[in-house]
Amino acid sequence: MIAVLDYGSQFAHLIARRIRSLGVYAEIFPNTTPSSVLKNKKVEGIILSGGPRSVYENNAPTIDKRIFTLGVPVLGLCYGHQLLAHTLGGKVVPSSKEYGKETLTVAGKSRLLQGLGKKEQVWMSHGDSVVALPQGFSVSGSTQECKIAAFADEKRRTYGLQFHPEVQHTLHGMKILENFIKICGCKRNYTIKGLDRKLVAEIKAKVGNGAVIMGVSGGVDSLVASALIKTATPNIYCAFVDHGIIRKGEAAYVKELYEKLGFRHYYYADASQIFYTRLKGITDPEEKRRVIGKTFIEVFEAKVKELKAKHGEIRFLGQGTIYPDRIESAKASKAADVIKTHHNVGGLPAKMRLKLVEPLKDLYKDEVRELGKMIGLPLDALMRHPFPGPGLAVRIVGEITAERIGIVQEADFIFTDELKKTGQYDKIWQAFAALLPVKAVGVMGDSRSYGYIISLRAVTSVDGMTADWAKIPNDVLERAASRIVKNVRGVTRVVYDITQKPPATIEYE
Ligand code: XMP
Repeated sequence: MIAVLDYGSQFAHLIARRIRSLGVYAEIFPNTTPSSVLKNKKVEGIILSGGPRSVYENNAPTIDKRIFTLGVPVLGLCYGHQLLAHTLGGKVVPSSKEYGKETLTVAGKSRLLQGLGKKEQVWMSHGDSVVALPQGFSVSGSTQECKIAAFADEKRRTYGLQFHPEVQHTLHGMKILENFIKICGCKRNYTIKGLDRKLVAEIKAKVGNGAVIMGVSGGVDSLVASALIKTATPNIYCAFVDHGIIRKGEAAYVKELYEKLGFRHYYYADASQIFYTRLKGITDPEEKRRVIGKTFIEVFEAKVKELKAKHGEIRFLGQGTIYPDRIESAKASKAADVIKTHHNVGGLPAKMRLKLVEPLKDLYKDEVRELGKMIGLPLDALMRHPFPGPGLAVRIVGEITAERIGIVQEADFIFTDELKKTGQYDKIWQAFAALLPVKAVGVMGDSRSYGYIISLRAVTSVDGMTADWAKIPNDVLERAASRIVKNVRGVTRVVYDITQKPPATIEYE
């Protein structure tokens, strides 16, 4: 196993995901993890991620120095690269910023950079640089601005890279990670083949004959988790809470899907009126999320009570939590600066005294999809884009009204339809329409119209933590825009959002 120590990088998951795709299991650990924990876990290599801080600042995250005595290869990336230099006796100072693609000139014969050309395209994002190396290290690559862009101590198998090998723009980044795995001596035998049987056995061992309640959303994660739980026990009760801020036709779609797959106990709770009433007049994004999260728990609890009265005791709660959800909510619960409150993890079980069953808790989204294919779930359901728990509420900027929900639903339906018809949908991580609460003038026939602006957003991503805007062909965008303006009353303009994450987020609120 490779451990990725997380220094707050948006790319920490990407590093772990890339290592897994090379056939080696990788997990993310907080940067405060003591060396004894890593030793007990028998990690074979350690990667220090990037991060937003400067190593010379007060209270900057650091590393347990005993890690360097474990005899395990260490690779520092960006902040990790600087931290290695800083901790082992080198020097890091503020420098001119490098952001984006740069050319690395490879020097010497570092094992980490074996197989690379003399000049390599790499991706940089830093404002500090290493200017003096610790003893025993030598420079193995530099760029125009950054003389120590790569360093190595082959004897100690310790390496630093100022650039990010995990991002696609570093053209041979995967080769570098593969070299690191070789240096670590890891066997490349991590695969999800056969994982379904193991997970089902684990669920059986945990729940026995006990009943499991599962909140389903129509999304990939809760679908795959429910299917695994259903294989382990017939006592699974699925409940879909409709908060009314969902996609057009969604409630009927989910019901049909679960019934077709043979779930005997599928329950639907129409709670849209409660949600609409409570959301009236609320415009603050975090307040919206809080109200939705709290009301969701209330409605779900009431449904569980009702099911208990009907079927007897229910002791377990099934959830489609996946690996990034778990790491992010653990981080969010500690960090003062919470970007957004995600409501789908936590909250429920503590209050309801239910034991959690989370079969997908160690997997990334694409691994969940792979697993879903292995157990024969329908491909179109597995390839659905992620949809946020608070639903269209985070895609309607400002107050939520019945009119605005209707507009977003229709616009979203048309955009998705165009993407599916043109084969674009499966190439994209997530695509949707959002409503901007400003009005703009248009002309319809001979008369002036005045209506909302719809923003179409489509992004490519590996894990939702970072994202690029999708380069959809213009004619597809044009058809979607013209259908929306023609068919959705109350919309006069359509724009396409070309912001990356970071600095933007994928959703609007
Ligand atoms: P952001 O907007 O934070 O979104 O860039 C990253 C990914 O997370 C999804 N998202 C959510 N999912 N509950 C969820 O289940 C939430 O509250 C929530 N907020 C954002 C978003 O759709 C994207 O895939």
